[in-house]
Amino acid sequence: MLLLSVLLATAAGQVAGLPQPQSLRGELETHIGDSEISWSTDCAYLGFDSQLPYSCANFSVPLDYTDPTSNETLELTLTRINATIQPARGSVLFNPGGPGAGGADFITGGGEEFMTVLGGQFNLIGFDPRATGNTLRFDCNEGLSDLEQLEAQPPPTVLGNASDVALGNNFASIKAQAAQCLNRTGGIGELVGTAFVARDMARIVDALGEDGLLRYWGFSYGTALGATFSAMFPEKVDKVVLDGNVNVQEYYSGWETQALVDLDGVVQGFFDGCIASLDSCPLARAGETADDVYNTVEAMLTRLKYNPIAVTLLNETTVVTYSSVKTFMFNMLYRPRTWPLVATLLDYLVDDNASLYVDARSQLRGNGTAGDSPDAITAIRCGDTAFRTDSLADLMPFEQQVVPTSTWGGLDFGLDNIMNCAPWMEKAKEVYSGDWDVKTKNPLLLIGNTYDPVTPLVSAQNNSAAFPGSVVLQHNGYGHTSLAQPSLCTAEAVQAYFINGTLPTPGTICQPDVPLFSNSTWQDAFASISLNGTVKAKRNVRYGSSRKSLMGALTELSRNVPGKPLYR
Ligand SMILES: *[C@@H]1O[C@H](CO)[C@@H](O)[C@H](O)[C@H]1NC(C)=O
Ligand SMILES: *[C@@H]1O[C@H](CO)[C@@H](O)[C@H](O)[C@H]1NC(C)=O
Ligand SMILES: *[C@@H]1O[C@H](CO)[C@@H](O)[C@H](O)[C@H]1NC(C)=O
Ligand SMILES: *[C@@H]1O[C@H](CO)[C@@H](O)[C@H](O)[C@H]1NC(C)=O
Ligand SMILES: *[C@@H]1O[C@H](CO)[C@@H](O)[C@H](O)[C@H]1NC(C)=O
Ligand SMILES: *[C@@H]1O[C@H](CO)[C@@H](O)[C@H](O)[C@H]1NC(C)=O
Ligand SMILES: *[C@@H]1O[C@H](CO)[C@@H](O)[C@H](O)[C@H]1NC(C)=O
Ligand SMILES: *[C@@H]1O[C@H](CO)[C@@H](O)[C@H](O)[C@H]1NC(C)=O
Ligand SMILES: *[C@@H]1O[C@H](CO)[C@@H](O)[C@H](O)[C@H]1NC(C)=O
Ligand SMILES: *[C@@H]1O[C@H](CO)[C@@H](O)[C@H](O)[C@H]1NC(C)=O
Ligand SMILES: *[C@@H]1O[C@H](CO)[C@@H](O)[C@H](O)[C@H]1NC(C)=O
Ligand SMILES: *[C@@H]1O[C@H](CO)[C@@H](O)[C@H](O)[C@H]1NC(C)=O
Repeated sequence: MLLLSVLLATAAGQVAGLPQPQSLRGELETHIGDSEISWSTDCAYLGFDSQLPYSCANFSVPLDYTDPTSNETLELTLTRINATIQPARGSVLFNPGGPGAGGADFITGGGEEFMTVLGGQFNLIGFDPRATGNTLRFDCNEGLSDLEQLEAQPPPTVLGNASDVALGNNFASIKAQAAQCLNRTGGIGELVGTAFVARDMARIVDALGEDGLLRYWGFSYGTALGATFSAMFPEKVDKVVLDGNVNVQEYYSGWETQALVDLDGVVQGFFDGCIASLDSCPLARAGETADDVYNTVEAMLTRLKYNPIAVTLLNETTVVTYSSVKTFMFNMLYRPRTWPLVATLLDYLVDDNASLYVDARSQLRGNGTAGDSPDAITAIRCGDTAFRTDSLADLMPFEQQVVPTSTWGGLDFGLDNIMNCAPWMEKAKEVYSGDWDVKTKNPLLLIGNTYDPVTPLVSAQNNSAAFPGSVVLQHNGYGHTSLAQPSLCTAEAVQAYFINGTLPTPGTICQPDVPLFSNSTWQDAFASISLNGTVKAKRNVRYGSSRKSLMGALTELSRNVPGKPLYR
């Protein structure tokens, strides 16, 4: 299921009266030597689809780092894909973002692409952060019967600009949910914060038996995690890539006003790309110019705002609303490769054929992963953030700041994170709160897209300022993180950094090699650096306006979501 959630961050210190979280800079405990991890190749029980063979392990870490008297532990699921070229130069850890996305199946899902970028020279390591996968499951409906769960379900989300009563209703229902989460999960919430995950990573790095230093590629929220690790354990930084940056200081404050500043640019890119690609964008017939098409889609959304459409297919009735369609669009802005498909679906709605839209959408709906921890995202993020209030009025100054950051989505999406977290009743036992001026053993590489809907370039620049010597690579593409619209130039920069420690010249801008609304894939873009030099067969997703090829593309996409858990 594509549960893509806004990744927003916050401004510590700028908000008067915020409770200041405790700062505990990590003490180093290094165990260099042989691997202490018992890897197995008997991993079918995990149920992961993997492009490359992988190993797995259970890895034991302290449950509570702040309680030295406790010997309670927690088992994290680890996965490893061996470097295709042996001996390997070491291992690279990954985090897919979310927070709340499992990391163990991130490298199995994206292994070919990561292995290719890394030139086959590093082992890939995935790990499930606390509250995800099989560890510390965080489910606010834990223990409820099916009927009770049905009753406990929150009403469907109504976006901020769908109705003038939406924000108040949503906030009330979130407050009720927060109380219920505390009641049903009591105690777990304080153990799943980012600082503890950073400590878990330090343990993994030590147990690998390499040099005790971290090599890491983190996406989205994974940049907040990577920045936190680098600040807590600057002496353990070998290579850290932060790709699709959350402003880490905003993240911890809970006052995330910066996230959507490039969203309108992404929306513009969708419509510009559509008009420039008549063959693969059926929506283009809705107007002469990108602005015409934009206005046609806005008019369709406004019609839906006042006249939602009920569609019954296969005994199931779905109501197509302004909020559901706009949320779909927002989520797909993360992934330009879906844009031909999105354009096809929007074209059905512009044509007032909601049945075709619902039918196609239902094909996209995944089956979910057994064991998904449904409320992990809230537990991790909200336990980390400082800002708290249970009064909607206290959010109005925030609303005034965030709404102008995006005409298209400021009001609809800009308040999601703060509304979820402000009434949250749990707090991580350890929160890293600075400083944010940290000299690391080796410099970091940060990557920011010119047009990322939720992690703007300015946040990469902001995070870079916290780590003197780090460099920002501008990836001149659309979508969320540099994986969204691949570029050989970016991939080579990442490879040179991991292999040689070479940073791009400050000011470097890389162009994507996969055009918008094209059927090219990362395999086409990276053909010259494939895996271990073998140019692999190309796999292409074909889009077209005929119904048959649309279904083909849908099936392909649902099977083949790159880094499926990136944005949950
Ligand atoms: C980075 O962002 C934080 C939070 O908004 C802000 O306090 C800080 O001044 C920014 N740093 C720079 C260098 O802009
Ligand atoms: C990875 O390499 C190790 C030896 O270094 C081997 O024992 C293991 O079976 C390999 N894993 C897979 C999945 O091939
Ligand atoms: C990890 O632990 C689970 C539960 O105890 C067990 O079923 C599984 O086989 C273990 N995996 C490995 C690789 O040891
Ligand atoms: C953990 O500590 C308790 C007492 O604090 C002790 O009884 C128990 O044996 C310890 N368990 C392990 C695995 O060391
Ligand atoms: C809300 O939507 C209306 C159209 O329905 C639009 O005119 C207005 O600008 C939107 N407001 C914001 C803040 O997005
Ligand atoms: C949760 O709520 C139930 C019913 O109100 C109450 O009996 C129980 O003690 C609460 N549990 C916790 C951990 O607060
Ligand atoms: C639709 O409902 C009918 C009667 O309840 C049932 O026989 C049929 O199997 C259902 N079809 C689907 C696709 O669920
Ligand atoms: C929607 O399109 C389908 C397939 O072309 C057609 O059968 C159906 O009648 C259309 N529905 C409406 C309301 O136009
Ligand atoms: C969901 O499960 C059904 C039945 O097992 C399968 O046919 C379908 O392909 C699955 N859908 C996805 C998106 O994986
Ligand atoms: C690393 O440096 C060596 C020596 O300068 C060079 O030959 C090689 O191409 C570099 N590798 C990458 C991936 O940049
Ligand atoms: C390169 O990869 C191909 C396919 O994965 C494999 O058959 C081949 O043995 C590999 N070559 C080396 C040198 O690792
Ligand atoms: C990709 O698209 C181009 C132009 O739209 C088309 O000529 C080409 O045949 C397509 N390639 C594949 C493999 O679908």
